[in-house]
Amino acid sequence: MTGQRKTRAQFGSKFGVFAAAAGSAIGLGNIWKFPYITGVYGGAAFLFVYLGFILAIGLPVMLSELVIGRRSRRNAFGAFNKLAPGSPWRFIGSFGVAAAFLILSFYGVVAGWSIKYIFFSLSNTFDGFSPLQIAETFDAFVADPGKPLLYQIIFMILTGAIVILGVHNGIESFSKVLMPILLIIILILDIRAVTLHGAGEGLRFLFHPDFSKLTFEGVLSALGHAFFSLSLGMGTLITYGSYVNKQNNLINIAVQVTVADTVVAILAGIAIFPAVFAFHIEPDGGVGLIFKTLPNVFIQMPGGVIFSVLFFILLTIAALTSAISILEVVVAYFVEELKLHRRSATIIATSLITLLGIICSLSLGIYSNVQVFNKTIFDLLDFISANILLPLGGMFIALFIGWFFGKFRVMREVAQGGSLKGWFLTVFMNLVRFVAPIAIFIVFLNGLKILDAVMALFKR
Ligand code: PFF
Repeated sequence: MTGQRKTRAQFGSKFGVFAAAAGSAIGLGNIWKFPYITGVYGGAAFLFVYLGFILAIGLPVMLSELVIGRRSRRNAFGAFNKLAPGSPWRFIGSFGVAAAFLILSFYGVVAGWSIKYIFFSLSNTFDGFSPLQIAETFDAFVADPGKPLLYQIIFMILTGAIVILGVHNGIESFSKVLMPILLIIILILDIRAVTLHGAGEGLRFLFHPDFSKLTFEGVLSALGHAFFSLSLGMGTLITYGSYVNKQNNLINIAVQVTVADTVVAILAGIAIFPAVFAFHIEPDGGVGLIFKTLPNVFIQMPGGVIFSVLFFILLTIAALTSAISILEVVVAYFVEELKLHRRSATIIATSLITLLGIICSLSLGIYSNVQVFNKTIFDLLDFISANILLPLGGMFIALFIGWFFGKFRVMREVAQGGSLKGWFLTVFMNLVRFVAPIAIFIVFLNGLKILDAVMALFKR
């Protein structure tokens, strides 16, 4: 298979690398999840803790993934196999491929809802509805045995179609067009939101911290979300890093993507909270903030139909550029490890993930009585991937770089296309050796609810 190696794809330009990696990071996590968990955990105080984790843990783990990818030029599994042949480290990659499979199955379901909401918005379906009617419409839609599947399948076909075109013609080209559109839409929505009468209260909620509202659970969610939002822990950025050429500066990429992801999450908060407060709606809408709460805002807002259509196009674009990066983890693995052609690899991976996604979607309706550990399949997949596989993957990636790969090889890899100051390397190595693994381990315990049990023991 040396022929395959010689022609291994690469991203074409610096902007292409940035657009693809930022496209992966910026997704449902920024626009759907970040605002609602910020709402649930009390606004600005949560935001500050989240920013701390992004800097101290997210950024170093992201750089670690890029280093592993570019050094090995392999998929998430093959990368560890090449850098640490025969050692148990290679199982980190298997975790990643499994996580990609699971995450994309439910991610596709939520992205499908977003497409449906573009149509709801276009036909002004919610006009004149009470908040209860809007909520009931959403609940009935997601529980329907047919309709959500249709939109999920449409979304998965779009994702597969881009990935099948390849790294350069598919992933990079589409990201380069879609990411600027995303930025323009979110800025339009921000301007609309902050110019609403009474918007100030929403901005205060987002930027004025009240640390008394911050719970332990909030701190842990901030860390978990940092991983999800930056696409870390399952080898997405190992896979993308493997397509980055040696002239690119890995530190710059990691910093730019981290900043872009964080800025877009905050811009999403600015598009949502001022509007929510201006219309006197409670901000802690939880999972339903986007699909149940926001339509109430749009039906009251001048020009609401247009802004609502734009919002759900934004959400769909964000989901699409992330979904292609998740699918690419599986496809690159199929191509390089199972020696499939890209075409068949993409079709097989997309079909299998869509099938699992269909089960996921049905578990919110006709299969809702099928429960494992008291959770529907949808919740179970979300739980296993976000709370177990991603943090575990991230922890091992940090340990791998910190304790196995080591300072000198990091220095050598980063020095290609960039330069590395001594103090930066020292800080980085300490973060990946100690800070990140320990913090992630705590999240992991939390994911398994082990900490709750320990806390309960202390409270007795
Ligand atoms: N970062 C994406 C988001 O914020 O929606 C989700 C995601 C993509 C998670 C890729 C993990 C991943 F590897």
